[in-house]
Amino acid sequence: MTENAIMETARTSFMWLHAHPELAYEETETTAYLRAAFSRAGIRILDLPLATGLIAVLGTGQKPIVVLRTDIDALPVEEETGLPYRSQYAGKMHACGHDFHMASVLAAALLLKEREAHLVGTVYIVCQPAEEAPGGARTVLDTGALDGAAAIFGIHARPIYPVGTIGLCAGGMMASVDKFTLTFHGVGTHAAQPDRGCDPIVMAAQFVTAAQTIAARSVSPLRPAVVSVTHIDAGTTWNVLPERAWMEGTIRLFDADDRVLVKARMEELADGIAAAFGGRAEIGWTAGPPAVVNTARWSALARKIAAAADFVVVEAVPWMAGEDFAYYQETMETCFAFVGTGVGPENHHPQFSVDPAAIPQTARYLARMAEEALHRLQ
Ligand code: NI
Repeated sequence: MTENAIMETARTSFMWLHAHPELAYEETETTAYLRAAFSRAGIRILDLPLATGLIAVLGTGQKPIVVLRTDIDALPVEEETGLPYRSQYAGKMHACGHDFHMASVLAAALLLKEREAHLVGTVYIVCQPAEEAPGGARTVLDTGALDGAAAIFGIHARPIYPVGTIGLCAGGMMASVDKFTLTFHGVGTHAAQPDRGCDPIVMAAQFVTAAQTIAARSVSPLRPAVVSVTHIDAGTTWNVLPERAWMEGTIRLFDADDRVLVKARMEELADGIAAAFGGRAEIGWTAGPPAVVNTARWSALARKIAAAADFVVVEAVPWMAGEDFAYYQETMETCFAFVGTGVGPENHHPQFSVDPAAIPQTARYLARMAEEALHRLQ
């Protein structure tokens, strides 16, 4: 295929994929579409027990192995862009740009197919399900298909940059994610007789304020930390003090040691406040992905290749959102990049949109990264 034909295919695919968004683990039409696109180009697809998503292969079949990754799922958001190729499915939208990731990675694969004889190793193209739900990257890693891969490269659409700009950095790109739930147990009573009970709402209020001191007073001011209580539930009416107060929220950090420290401080504060007011605290944790951390080696190469692809390369503004791309770091080195897709509403907003003009440059960047990384790994 000529480069023009490849970019035209990518553009058409982007629009089709945008119009047909599917939620995490339900990406059957998306998977079928990608499967057909790879097959038409003569690109082999691994036979894996993945219900949705796929891994395609290019190159020699020998080591070294590098990976290009796209996520494929959409979000439960009602689209409000008014685009001619807007979502055909009520309440579902590619509001995070995964359609753009797919089109760019598909085009990169088609470019690499034209260069296949020159590849000095193997490139896996991972189309990963369920980035927005827990476990998508894990499902792919559990197949064992990526065992032996040395490096993985990924992108994320960012509406804080114009088309033609790419954000890169060595170190933390995206934050670790932890979710907590916290219940303060007290003793219910008549609101007119608070002395006869033990008020969990007062404990919860103290905790919400005190928890902010973890970022301000426990974590080094040189490292970003977010502690957010996002949901509180207590009581049923105006004249009864309830038995318990419940809340949940999230913690976002870049440093693995801070993750341990912040959890410990949360528990100390919850227990201490509960004890001071005569109640009891119960805290529960759900761990999300660790931080996405680029290695110096691959981010240096990425800068070089992005500049050669005529990107304006800027120092990435780290993003406190989470990304399950981080799980791949357990077994391989990573470089993640923020690609400018036109300045506009943020990711996950109903008016989020990607300018497809960003696809060709992004595809060339990804294809060059894979090909050049294989050389560096010789
Ligand atoms: Ni995303």
